[in-house]
Amino acid sequence: MTIAPRGYDAVPAGASLVAVALGDADAPAVLMLHGEGQSRAMWAEAVTALAEAGRYVIALDLRGHGESRAASEGAADLDAHVADVRGVLETLGSRPVVVGSGLGAQVALATLGEGGEHLATGLVLLDEDEGDAPMRTRLDAAATRIKVPTLVIDGPCHDIAGARKAAISEGGPLVAADRADAFNALLLEFLEQAAPRAVPEYRAGSDPRTLRDALGCFGTGVTVVTTIDVEGKPVGLTANSFTAVSLDPPLLLVCLANTVQSLPAFAAAKGFAVNVLHTGQQTVSGRFASRHEDRFAATPWETWDTGAPIIEHSLASFDCTKFAWHEAGDHVILVGHVQRVRFEPRRDPLLYFRGRYRRLHFS
Ligand SMILES: Cc1cc2nc3c(=O)[nH]c(=O)nc-3n(C[C@H](O)[C@H](O)[C@H](O)COP(=O)(O)O)c2cc1C
Repeated sequence: MTIAPRGYDAVPAGASLVAVALGDADAPAVLMLHGEGQSRAMWAEAVTALAEAGRYVIALDLRGHGESRAASEGAADLDAHVADVRGVLETLGSRPVVVGSGLGAQVALATLGEGGEHLATGLVLLDEDEGDAPMRTRLDAAATRIKVPTLVIDGPCHDIAGARKAAISEGGPLVAADRADAFNALLLEFLEQAAPRAVPEYRAGSDPRTLRDALGCFGTGVTVVTTIDVEGKPVGLTANSFTAVSLDPPLLLVCLANTVQSLPAFAAAKGFAVNVLHTGQQTVSGRFASRHEDRFAATPWETWDTGAPIIEHSLASFDCTKFAWHEAGDHVILVGHVQRVRFEPRRDPLLYFRGRYRRLHFS
């Protein structure tokens, strides 16, 4: 493994943040947050040890410390640090174990306990200062929401369920050079439990199961595709095979299985609609993928230009005339010429990945 220092810049919340990353970027990540009046330099030994042990280590200078500038407006208080660290966690490609010392421990606890619990896989609090009464109340509340494996070293242990405690500070600050070995050993042992270094496990084959599983690696949104049948009844089904095709002319496609009951209706219709679902519409997705429900009875809809059902409150809807119909194996590729669109810019999409509904991790 090549270990090469790299500059790492992120600029969330109006502050300029500087961090150094060491190690293989594909390895499990660790984010290090230093204490008050310190900088990322305090982690020098730990960063090297962790990178050599196969971790991707990011050591951040908190705003107003080291090379990170405080934002011109706004002080470098806990809220500002929490916003910064949250921004950094959201830009990372994977969820790290967050290690914080002193002020950094307070920031880590508040960040993960105040709505960021999904942004990390583990938490290490070191030399955490209790702070004044309001701070204690705040961090106590944050601590009750920590669900990731946690190690508390030489600090007040808030009521964090299942947290492991260790005390090895006798004789001086833990990360001082002569204490570094004990600290690094403790940290590495915890990391192996909280975020084991997984060896990539590739599966290959040409059988249908492997093909489906490989295709399931492509995360998608979820749509309901609708049209009106020859008797004037609305029909539709859940489909994640939606793809944008062309901007000029505006074209999109969905792939419909030859077994879909409403296929003759789509074949005969001049238009159809694609409705992109938001996270609150998972029941709609289930309804339009199940054979036993009256799909439109419980689904408010309207029509626009083509007469195809537009499902109300969808994240986005595309009203299309039929542009092309291509038979392709056991599916049909239905290409639509978009006539009108509508979307809601603030809601989150319902996602589908590896056979399960998902949500965005990051807001
Ligand atoms: C998330 C999800 C995505 C789906 N994507 C498609 C698709 O792209 N094309 C398709 O033909 N069926 C897809 N299906 C399956 C159909 O929705 C399901 O078979 C439906 O019952 C077919 O309609 P029918 O009952 O009227 O035949 C999907 C189902 C789910 C749950």
